[in-house]
Amino acid sequence: MKDRLIIFDTTMRDGEQSPGASMTREEKIRIARQLERMRVDVIEAGFPAASNGDFEAVRAVANAIRESTVAGLCRANDRDIGRGIDALKGARSWRIHTFIATSALHMEKKLRMTPDQVLEDAKNAVRYARKHCPDIEFSPEDASRSELDFLCRVLEAVIVEGATTINIPDTVGYAVPQQFGEFISTLRGRVPNSDKAVWSVHCHNDLGMAVANSLAAVVIGGARQIECTVNGLGERAGNTSLEEVVMALKTRGDFFPVQTGIDTTQIVPASRLVSQITGFVVQPNKAVVGANAFAHASGIHQDGVIKSRQTYEIMRAEDVGWAANRIVLGKLSGRTAFKQRLKELGIDLESEEAYNKAFQRFKDLADKKSEIYDEDIQALLSDGVVTSSEEHWKLIHMSQASGMGERPQASVVLSEAGREHSAQAQGDGPVDATFKAIESVANSGAGLLLYSVNAITTGTESQGEVTVRLERGGRIVNGLGADTDIVVASAKAYLAALNKLHDKTERINPQI
Ligand code: KIV
Ligand code: ZN
Repeated sequence: MKDRLIIFDTTMRDGEQSPGASMTREEKIRIARQLERMRVDVIEAGFPAASNGDFEAVRAVANAIRESTVAGLCRANDRDIGRGIDALKGARSWRIHTFIATSALHMEKKLRMTPDQVLEDAKNAVRYARKHCPDIEFSPEDASRSELDFLCRVLEAVIVEGATTINIPDTVGYAVPQQFGEFISTLRGRVPNSDKAVWSVHCHNDLGMAVANSLAAVVIGGARQIECTVNGLGERAGNTSLEEVVMALKTRGDFFPVQTGIDTTQIVPASRLVSQITGFVVQPNKAVVGANAFAHASGIHQDGVIKSRQTYEIMRAEDVGWAANRIVLGKLSGRTAFKQRLKELGIDLESEEAYNKAFQRFKDLADKKSEIYDEDIQALLSDGVVTSSEEHWKLIHMSQASGMGERPQASVVLSEAGREHSAQAQGDGPVDATFKAIESVANSGAGLLLYSVNAITTGTESQGEVTVRLERGGRIVNGLGADTDIVVASAKAYLAALNKLHDKTERINPQI
């Protein structure tokens, strides 16, 4: 029997620290349910002390999840840990994850603390947390650049205080695989009580080695937990990608000494959901979940795959949840069939009113598009409108005119908290004209950081899914919109972003 590797997902905490990836409470619940369906062992739901919004989101996830352990990140102080306990205690199984930096650079420049003070805070934090919760994870931030003797001293002390998992972060993505694997092995060898804790790693991808470093830590160092995120979302260049780690372990089971409990068929649905909610599009050549991951373009490859799939495929697309685009519903499908399909897709809306709104959207789409795929249904819910939160800005009507040699014009009718406004504008293209018309009403003062369009399914009748990223006063938000008309999708995405900027309960990225 192989050892079990614990998969700790931090999409909703470290992933949320990506610019614009902040998630609402409802969005976190949807992602958490999908992670639970995927049988992730530990779900880090957020950073409860970062804001009231994150506290409520972590609490809601803790109350909604029954199969996975729910964790919350806390700095090494009583206030943070107290907030963490209050947010998590409703969970069936929960974990406090506390951290403090241990590298000389972080201690001196960032924390302005001496090593002895850091050691004391680490011990006190774990001791306090352990009084309330039996499952405590401790992370020495910037561990891979920390001085070895001091790090060992801290780790030994926190295990004495009751830490049950020791997580070694490569906070700045500085490690290289062989060295990092040996580093974990050295730590486990030098910390006298190392056998009293599970050893974990948390790697950032600044040099593109997060997955390799994590796997080396398992093989060479004996780590038995990997922290990772769906689509590799995370600070800066991101975190270890969950799908890559899980599929490497499964596909190369002949080499790796561990196995996970992940239901791999839930990987692609999870990837899509996270991408739709955060607005972070998955690059087509991304391993496992990219649109081209199982596509064969060259004639020689196509010929080989037709004769035997193993010639060019080391994994089966269906094993990671890629289903051929299936027509699931059409114009004549009724409410029950729609609700059933949502259930099969793992979409659980919070109220009958939300189902009614979603069904109305489905009917509107079916009027425009005869064949509705699973991806279309997921996109119907992607802009977060089918939730209890009220939208400040709503699109009532829009039209635009463009032609060769003519300057495009757009007119919009918007409602702002129930009051209607209309505006017209010209622009460099129909989308530009539409955004200008919206801005002439909204006057948001926001800057456009990103605009991207993606086809949801194949064919020209596909819905376009648009991401708009706006920035105002240092706050960054992503809005998503989908429609068969990409200019309408663009307007919806722009308004979704404006609504997020307007929503005071929506959290600023909880940067640590
Ligand atoms: O990258 C990091 O060091 C972290 C820790 C808080 C685990 O995210
Ligand atoms: Zn991190």
